Amino acid sequence: MPERPRLLPLLGHSGPGRDAMTCLYRCGNACDHPVPNESDNPYLGDVVRDGMTRRGVVRAGAVGALVLGFGATGATSAAAAPAAAAPAAPAAPAVPAAAPVPEMLGNLTKGKAGKLSFKAIPPNKLDSFIVPNGYDSSVVLRWGDPILPGAPALDVTKQTAARQSAQFGYNNDFVGVLPLGKDGARALLVVNHEYTNENLMFPGFTSLEALTVEQIEVAMAAHGLSVVELERVGRTGEWRPATGKRLPYNRRITALSTKFQLTGPAAGSAFVRTAADRTGTTVIGTLNNCSGGVTPWGTVLSGEENFNQYFVGGDGAPAADKPRLARYGINTTTRIPADSRRWERAQERFDLAKHPNEANRFGWIVEVDPTDPTFRPRKHTAMGRLKHEGANVIIARSGHVVAYMGDDERFDYLYKFVSAGVYKPNNRKHNLTLLESGTLYVAKVTGDSPAAEIDGTGKLPSDGAFDGTGRWIKLVSGTKSFVPGMTAAEVLTFTRLAGDAVGATKMDRPEDVQPSPVTGKIYAAMTNNTNRAVGTNPGVDEANPRSANKHGHIFEITEDRGDHTGETFTWALPIVCGDPADAGTYFGGYDKAAVSPISCPDNVAFDSAGNLWISTDGNALGSNDGLFATPIEGPSKGHLKQFLTVPLGAETCGPFITSDDRSVFVAVQHPGEITGASLENPASTWPDGAYARPAVVVTWRPDGGPVGS
Ligand code: FEO
Ligand code: CA
Ligand code: CA
Ligand code: CA
Repeated sequence: MPERPRLLPLLGHSGPGRDAMTCLYRCGNACDHPVPNESDNPYLGDVVRDGMTRRGVVRAGAVGALVLGFGATGATSAAAAPAAAAPAAPAAPAVPAAAPVPEMLGNLTKGKAGKLSFKAIPPNKLDSFIVPNGYDSSVVLRWGDPILPGAPALDVTKQTAARQSAQFGYNNDFVGVLPLGKDGARALLVVNHEYTNENLMFPGFTSLEALTVEQIEVAMAAHGLSVVELERVGRTGEWRPATGKRLPYNRRITALSTKFQLTGPAAGSAFVRTAADRTGTTVIGTLNNCSGGVTPWGTVLSGEENFNQYFVGGDGAPAADKPRLARYGINTTTRIPADSRRWERAQERFDLAKHPNEANRFGWIVEVDPTDPTFRPRKHTAMGRLKHEGANVIIARSGHVVAYMGDDERFDYLYKFVSAGVYKPNNRKHNLTLLESGTLYVAKVTGDSPAAEIDGTGKLPSDGAFDGTGRWIKLVSGTKSFVPGMTAAEVLTFTRLAGDAVGATKMDRPEDVQPSPVTGKIYAAMTNNTNRAVGTNPGVDEANPRSANKHGHIFEITEDRGDHTGETFTWALPIVCGDPADAGTYFGGYDKAAVSPISCPDNVAFDSAGNLWISTDGNALGSNDGLFATPIEGPSKGHLKQFLTVPLGAETCGPFITSDDRSVFVAVQHPGEITGASLENPASTWPDGAYARPAVVVTWRPDGGPVGS
């Protein structure tokens, strides 16, 4: 590729495997800023009883967990008529009446032996979407594709906020596919649009400062979520946008104009009231929606992540607010930080000198009901305010809903939320309230090996495992705070500070956290932390055992007695990522000669056999990012293989394996995001050959077999 002009400030870019442009646009150069967690995590003996040994509790395999299921769509599902032949929709109401709710369609999967037979693809630097032999793939939706009635096709020379608000957004991240009806022929695709690359969107881009207000509003409209009805192509694992004039579920949710309802104990509190919303209950927009999850009652959860980068004026915020703003990475010493998106030029609320509480209205878990296009999305304050990567729920044996969540920042924490109410399979209205009240916990973990055996290289300690015990420390339950000196509303709005106060364990950037629907064990991606044990930063521990951790690891939680509502667990690192030739890597004890190199795990997902699928962000080994799969139980545990790779400059997001195992969806985020690239001089021309367009892709087996196996 020819050398390209440098158009953007690099600001001492220091992310591990990521291009400087990714660091600037995606997280506001978080890696170049001071670590927001400066806490010394004081030990609170009455809250944290460190050293309690709860090891050795063997859990049964299956737990009382529930998962969403697709309708019967295997080779025998002849009833799944080719979608193109589906009858035209009758004169339906604009808003569907009794929505074909993707309600619970099945209990916990049995989890057949998790053999993965596909042939691993090699690492590569191709500007293509690569899948194994015997598989096929197609683009489902690209940035700018029309979604709403009358929406125009993308024309980058004519883009307006109104056009973008009716088109598929930019930088797709989370992907959820919810069955519509029971014949497996239709589904709702729900996608997060995390952020924008203005230099790859607008002709003649020079700087963020030079954008017109209309262009800023285009960017705001390109954030948020999309809901798009899909139809299966024949009886295959391929899906495409549904055709027809009436697509009542299709919806755009944006940062520009969509209203959100704040729920839970911090809603209406003084921390979230603003001049425009004196009751502190209604927020305009959602920001930096990263990953998420699908609930058993057919809604989607979406994490608001790096919201800090959208605000200016932190230097002019009230002095009392500054420590709280700074703990979330907001610059409180400079009026216009160098990496600001300058949205305050379009909407004054992004100026914290004038509206200091506006930042407190982002950083929540959002819930969207894709089956109701009139549904006002909710921001659930009971689940805490973090840089939420996402949230994934499991139904505990008791019926309580348990959500697992990561706060994606170096040295930040893992959380779980347990609902106050219980899941009722046939009461969707009730289930839609479950995330409004409950108990929020943060994780504190302890290794079981001598500290001296954790030498920072990744060398296993003498007991052969990075493992130990952990406790879920209660922060708040309902409206009762368990953090001395903080009210419940404070704990929920400034949750990082609550985690600091109770001595939570500083992790290596907790990204996606998801329970296995087969075993009930929980898997969390620690993507990397190049600051670990560097300078004055915290040193290694058994749960974060490598200094300057470039490649990340997988953290596995096993709740004691299989009780997801409990307060104790055991943990282990089944995978320590990197080049398998590197002695400081670990793949479940499997022969490393047969394992694919993997770096910077970000999102996790499961197929129906319980195999763990891992997508990556920022390959520090020099290859394009990709999607990997590995058995996580049994004799093939750790036999990790690369399933696909995404084009140059892109990150692999999603992933989502449909419960019939016929289709793997991934989001190709920020293709061509390479320093110096522009719309006119792209670093990637995927998928159309002109310039890069983020897109959702589906992969399937033309022979009709289940993916992976
Ligand atoms: Fe948006 Fe934590 O990745
Ligand atoms: Ca150990
Ligand atoms: Ca992510
Ligand atoms: Ca996931």
